[in-house]
Amino acid sequence: MPHSAAHLPHLWLPYSQMKTAPYPVEAIQTDGSTITLHDGRQLIDGVASWWTACHGYNHPHLRCAITEQAQRMPHIMLGGMVHEPALTLASRLSSLLPGDLERVFFTDSGSVAMEVACKIAVQFHLNRGTPNRHKLLSFRGGYHGDTLGMMAICDPEEGMHSLFGDALPRQVLADLPTTSAYLAELEQLLEKRGHEIAAMITEPLVQGAGGMVFHTPQTLRHLRRLCDQHGILLIIDEVFTGFGRTGHLFASEEAGIVPDIVALSKALTGGTLPLAATIARKSIFEAFLSDNPLHALMHGPTFMANPLACAVANASLDLFEREPRLEQVHAIAQQLEHELVPCRTLPGVRDVRVKGAIGVVELDQLDDAPALNRAFLDEAVWIRPFRRIVYLTPAFTITPDELSRLTGAIYRVLKARS
Ligand SMILES: Cc1ncc(COP(=O)(O)O)c(C=O)c1O
Repeated sequence: MPHSAAHLPHLWLPYSQMKTAPYPVEAIQTDGSTITLHDGRQLIDGVASWWTACHGYNHPHLRCAITEQAQRMPHIMLGGMVHEPALTLASRLSSLLPGDLERVFFTDSGSVAMEVACKIAVQFHLNRGTPNRHKLLSFRGGYHGDTLGMMAICDPEEGMHSLFGDALPRQVLADLPTTSAYLAELEQLLEKRGHEIAAMITEPLVQGAGGMVFHTPQTLRHLRRLCDQHGILLIIDEVFTGFGRTGHLFASEEAGIVPDIVALSKALTGGTLPLAATIARKSIFEAFLSDNPLHALMHGPTFMANPLACAVANASLDLFEREPRLEQVHAIAQQLEHELVPCRTLPGVRDVRVKGAIGVVELDQLDDAPALNRAFLDEAVWIRPFRRIVYLTPAFTITPDELSRLTGAIYRVLKARS
C-alpha cells in the first residue's frame, strides 16, 4: 500500500497535509457501530462519522425512509413549491425546540446553517433600521465551520484558520464568561461596543472542534442575560450538541434558555444525508415581513430541504421518540466515567472528562496523532485524536462491550506511548 495520501490519484482530503498524511483506509460497509474495511478488517467506531450517526449505521427505519422517498421524489426545488417531508420536519423541529423558535430555514451543512443564522441576525437589525449593528461576537475556542464567514468567527488560532488573518472580516472575539473575571471583561466590552453587535454566537456547553472543552449552563445563562440587556441576538450553534449528544435533546435545554436562533445539522438525519436547519424565533421572522422586497431573506441553496434528507430526518426523530436514546446516552456517560478514569494515572494525561456521550482524554501534548490513529487501527477501533485530545463520541446504540473495546484501546495505546 502506498505510504502517503499524496498517492491518491484525484481525491483532495479534508484537514490533511497530503504530502505527509498516511494513506487512508478504505471503508466498504457499516453496520451498527462496526466499520468494515476493504481488506476485511472490522473496526468499532468511536467517532460516529464526525458525530452524526447517533442511531448507529444502517438502522432499518432510516434505510426504509430513504428507500421509500427515493421511489417517490428524491428531490424537488423549494422555490415556489413545498413538500410534505419538509413541512412535517419543520413543524416537528419547532415543537421540539423551546419557546417560540418556530421558523425553520433548511440548508445542507452546519457551516451554511450558521452562515444563514448570522445573515438573519444582521438583516434583522437592518430591517429594523439599526444598520450599525452588524458585528458578530464569538468566543475563544469556538468552531462554527470552514466557510469564509464562519472562519471569521472561529477561534483565530484553534479554529484552523490562523493563516487567513486579514483576508477575513474583523469580528469581535471574547472569552466565554466561565469565571467572574471573564464575565466582568465581557460586560465591559459590551458596555463599550454592545451597540455595534448584531449577534453573540456560541456552541452550548461543549466547544467541540476547539478541543471538547465544557462549560456550565450558568455560562449560557450569563450570555442570554447580556444579550437581553444589550439588544443582541443570541445564536446557539447546536450543530454538534443537538440531538442528545450532551444528555438532553438540545444542550441549551440544560440551561433553560431560549436562544434567538439555533443551528442544527450533523445528527439531524441520523448520520445518513447532508441536511441542516436554522431556526429563528417568531419575532425575528416577523422583522422580515414587510412591503419592502429588500426586507426578504435572499438565500436559497439549490438542494435546501432535499426531500430524501427531510424524510430520513423525520425517521430519525421517530427513533428518538420510539427508542430510549437519552437513556442510552446516560448509560454511555456512566460507562465512560468509569472506564476512562484509569487514564488519569497515565503520564502525559492532563485531564479526563465526560459529558453525555462525549468522553475526552486530554494530553499534555499530541504531536503523533497519525501514529496514534495507526495504533488504534491495530486495536481494531476507529478513533481520531486531534489537537491534544483523544475522544469518543460513539453512536448512542453502541453496546457496553463495544464501548469497553474503545475505552480499553485508549488506555492501552496511551500506556504504550507513555
Ligand atoms: C459546532 C459546529 N458548528 C458548525 C460545524 C460545521 O458543520 P459542517 O461541517 O457540516 O459544515 C461544525 C462541524 O464540526 C460544528 O462542530
